[in-house]
Amino acid sequence: MAERIGILTGGGDCPGLNAVIRAVVKSATRVGWETIGFHGGYEGLLEPLSYQKLDHREMGALLTSGGTVLGTSNRGRFAAKTGHGEQHEIPREILDEAKRNFDALGLHALICVGGDGSLTIAQQLCEHGIPVVGVPKTIDNDLEATDTTFGFDSAVACATDALDRLHTTAASHNRVMVLEVMGRYAGWIAVHAGIGGGGDIILIPEIPFTYESICRKIAEREAMGRQFTLVVVAEGARGKGGAFVTQGSAVADREARLGGVGAIVAAELAQRTGKETRVVVLGHLQRGGGPTTFDRLLCTRFGARAVKLVQEGKFGYMVALRSTDTVGVKITEAIGRLRTVPVDGDIVETARMLGISFGDE
Ligand code: F6P
Repeated sequence: MAERIGILTGGGDCPGLNAVIRAVVKSATRVGWETIGFHGGYEGLLEPLSYQKLDHREMGALLTSGGTVLGTSNRGRFAAKTGHGEQHEIPREILDEAKRNFDALGLHALICVGGDGSLTIAQQLCEHGIPVVGVPKTIDNDLEATDTTFGFDSAVACATDALDRLHTTAASHNRVMVLEVMGRYAGWIAVHAGIGGGGDIILIPEIPFTYESICRKIAEREAMGRQFTLVVVAEGARGKGGAFVTQGSAVADREARLGGVGAIVAAELAQRTGKETRVVVLGHLQRGGGPTTFDRLLCTRFGARAVKLVQEGKFGYMVALRSTDTVGVKITEAIGRLRTVPVDGDIVETARMLGISFGDE
């Protein structure tokens, strides 16, 4: 029987998942392996088993397409993280069932594509005897041990485009425009898009803000003849001493849903400054659509490197970008340690040099 590997995509979707699948299938085919893809994230490993054989001749359109052809989920029976990132052990019977099915399918490795939550599951599967290799995915760019995750560049491109559009309408109407972007507890998307899109104020989880500081910046701009202001708010931003703004009530099998801080900031600024203020929540537009060229290349390199790691028997490893190269690093080096924006780092310093406010001065 031909050697067989499995692949699945876990957690929230993001641009580039299909490009990783394509690179894995093409590379695996070249070394003589068959690839099967599990449906719906980790759930596909459990009864009723749901998977398909992936044919390298049908991978053509996957380089550029959005979403994941395998489907995914960020909740369910495997949920290793809930609330604001609390970690849990996956029930033993679930791990046993996954291992039984993995063995019955004659697989010799499982490639798990996902962010912190999905790689935490991958690590637990690995410790339970399933040879796993990880691929780091998340638009939030909040994973340790890799210089970047795929999907981030595409999300930033989307948010930057939104800011470019908001810029012209804000300037035409002399308004304050608030753009809420994703990123969970890290402000990477907000900072990169905020600088790239010419934002005036960037609010991120790493730097708690005050309304006094934001209003000072708006007044300062007005004194310079700039009657409009662009504010980029990360969904995890909060005022000094304040709490995260979440949507809906907590659910047992998934992480908390952040969101809504943009509207709160906009209402408060309108009230304090008397200026017309509008809010846009970019939401899942950041996750939809195809990957940028940077992400297509990164996904292709990550997929090929994942197959190489399987060849080398480096299980419990994930691919990572380190400087200019893709390498293998232990999954345990990446999970459970949120990579946030360094508040004294180069990127924040660059923004401050340009007069961008983080709402803290
Ligand atoms: O982690 C990726 C992410 O898109 C976050 O930026 C966001 O908070 C969350 O997922 C949204 O998840 P959901 O798919 O449940 O809306």
